[in-house]
Amino acid sequence: MTERSYVEVKDLRRVFDVSKPWLNRVLEGGEKQYLKAVDGVSFSIAKGETFALVGESGSGKSTVARMVVGLLPPTDGEVVIDGVSMSSKAAFAERQRLRRRIQMIFQDPYASLNPRWQVDRIVAEPIRAFRLIEGEKEITARVGELLSLVGLHPADGKKYPHEFSGGQRQRIAIARALASNAEFIVCDEPTSALDVSVQAQILNLMRDLQDRLGLTYLFISHNLAVVRHMASRIGVMYLGRIVEISNGRELFAQPKHPYTRMLLDAVPDVGMTGRQRIPVRGEIPNPINPPTGCTFNPRCPFANERCRAEIPPLLQGVACHAVHEGRLAIGAAA
Ligand SMILES: Nc1ncnc2c1ncn2[C@@H]1O[C@H](COP(=O)(O)OP(=O)(O)OP(=O)(O)O)[C@@H](O)[C@H]1O
Ligand code: SF4
Ligand SMILES: [Mg+2]
Repeated sequence: MTERSYVEVKDLRRVFDVSKPWLNRVLEGGEKQYLKAVDGVSFSIAKGETFALVGESGSGKSTVARMVVGLLPPTDGEVVIDGVSMSSKAAFAERQRLRRRIQMIFQDPYASLNPRWQVDRIVAEPIRAFRLIEGEKEITARVGELLSLVGLHPADGKKYPHEFSGGQRQRIAIARALASNAEFIVCDEPTSALDVSVQAQILNLMRDLQDRLGLTYLFISHNLAVVRHMASRIGVMYLGRIVEISNGRELFAQPKHPYTRMLLDAVPDVGMTGRQRIPVRGEIPNPINPPTGCTFNPRCPFANERCRAEIPPLLQGVACHAVHEGRLAIGAAA
């Protein structure tokens, strides 16, 4: 962690109680069951940077996102944003001030936009809630400015969310996030529901806004091609842990972890030449009862006894015994 980090996520953990109801357990038998959705995740993000989390469905990306923005309390660990710990009770007033500066954008903008409100009311809501601007005329002007900033027309404020396409609705969600003068935006699969061409437009808009406003992003996606376009640093998640973390260029040119290699091999246009390919095989195991040792071992062609017994630590950006032992050459040619 550098001193300049704007966001610091330290050893974050989240356990969900997924037991059957008490009465069912008494009548039918069975123990309490717990699911470790996030199991010791740490990363930092510099101001103005995009850090991405990538991984298959169920790897814990959204759970991390919800803890980072304060929608879900962590079971353990800490989130520090601009020097303020989100869990410290002493800093309540400071945390409240910080909330305005942190916003989240979701995969389905329709679900996060009130369908009964006109767009100008939706975008103005954070301005009113945080009392950022006084006076109706001034608020209307600011809403028009925000709609223009995201590529919509100020007159679009008079319409309702259902009158827009998916991409336009995501623009409205971005305008609303910016309405509170947000500095840090957590984007959870913001373009996954959109057509490829629309996806590119929204990603370009987000990059453009980052350049203009100095925004910091935590960007979540299961799609490596999208992440490559957006992030300077990437963390690859598997069953609640980061298994590889590195800058984007290095991750794509020299993936180290077998899981990262497998994900890359599933992307046809990444252009990895000469590297030994690992075919995609198997599915994510049941997280309630994960495999012992390295949780990737049932899917890994390099697994051995040690892998099935010991959890590999994250050393020099990778959590893999074979890499640490030097028995899996990095980016090895076939
Ligand atoms: N409220 C909850 N109660 C119980 N289990 C949960 C809860 N929220 C998430 N989980 C479980 O935690 C694990 C991680 O879920 P999460 O939604 O964070 O994954 P994800 O990486 O965002 O997946 P996706 O790509 O499908 O969005 C999953 O096994 C999920 O079923
Ligand atoms: S630790 Fe073992 S099972 Fe896990 S990824 Fe590395 S080689 Fe594969
Ligand atoms: Mg998710």
